Amino acid sequence: TDLTPLKDIYEDYFLIGNAVSMTEMEGQRLDLLRHHHNLVTAENAMKPEYAYDSSRSFNFNDQQRLVDRIQEEGFYLHGHVLVWHQQSPEWLHTVDGQLLSREEALENMYTHIEETIIHYGDDVIAWEVVNEAMNDNPRDPENWRDMLRRSDWYDAIGDDYLELAYRKAREVLDENGWEEVKLYYNDYNDDNQSKSRAIYYMVQEINETYAEENPGELLIDGVGMQGHYNASTIADNVRQSIERFRELGVEIGVTELDITSRSSGELSEEEELAQALLYAELFAIYKEHADVISRVTFWGLNDATSWRSENNPLLFDENLQAKQAYYAVADPEAFL
Ligand code: G3I
Repeated sequence: TDLTPLKDIYEDYFLIGNAVSMTEMEGQRLDLLRHHHNLVTAENAMKPEYAYDSSRSFNFNDQQRLVDRIQEEGFYLHGHVLVWHQQSPEWLHTVDGQLLSREEALENMYTHIEETIIHYGDDVIAWEVVNEAMNDNPRDPENWRDMLRRSDWYDAIGDDYLELAYRKAREVLDENGWEEVKLYYNDYNDDNQSKSRAIYYMVQEINETYAEENPGELLIDGVGMQGHYNASTIADNVRQSIERFRELGVEIGVTELDITSRSSGELSEEEELAQALLYAELFAIYKEHADVISRVTFWGLNDATSWRSENNPLLFDENLQAKQAYYAVADPEAFL
């Protein structure tokens, strides 16, 4: 490929990442991945669902095969994810349709966090400890505990499950001397102001409580803005959320960026340009905040294999050819 590598263009700003499975680890897909990116997230492989065998014992073999390839290729690895209400074995919190007691569920959550962190050590540069814990459109953001998603983890443990998850993760990192591994909170609809406010209050309170016991230290190091946007997304809302999160004194990761077009099927020229324009607006904003933005990760290499493939959300088309969106990201100012 003769396009300028995005990772070079953004070398002085932030890492450029993508979501991968084994499919990206060979042939043309690997070439494109290597050309533009220096960071990857496992799109599915490192989720709790894939960490156990059928007898409920840890088995990281499948995950490790992918991680070995990622390391051979020299990418940084962003860990996704430890505690989530999806793609996670039900038995961690529920048995025979009944929620476990708080103590039992906590023990399973702690064991999962501890064993996974120890398995990967500092092969990851960060862990998303908790993913998608906040409701959409919380009506009273300041009252963030009541705005948490009523997931099985929440129901079994209570509204402190998040804080306890981070404390456990921090303890394991500290005990093992992996202080450089960052702990992230990750969520979507990050352009929604009431949701980003609720996340702001949550991270603020959890970090303040921790800092009372550990002066000058962070419990949650970073906020992940997934960035699953669409044709109606307003870039200024994303800017406002970034400005809010940076007040927390944490780093910001754009962790799962894609932008769906309005109609499905083949993109019209007009739609391709509209999509590119939004990518350009976003990257212009990211550059302004590059002092706190650590990484920008796209959620897929090309339209054909995206989780939202019917709406062509990525920079490269089904033949791995650059779309207008690539040129917009490569030189946002020229596009605006
Ligand atoms: O592994 C099975 C395979 O054995 C089976 O044959 C096949 C048939 O459907 O399914 C495979 O599992 C699929 C899995 O991806 C791996 O390919 C699941 O059905 C499918 O639901 C799953 O989708 C993933 C989705 O998370 C699940 O919630 C997407 O690939 C992945 O892009 C998406 O990523 C999430 C992030 O983790 C969190 N944020 C939102 C984002 C988009 O939903």
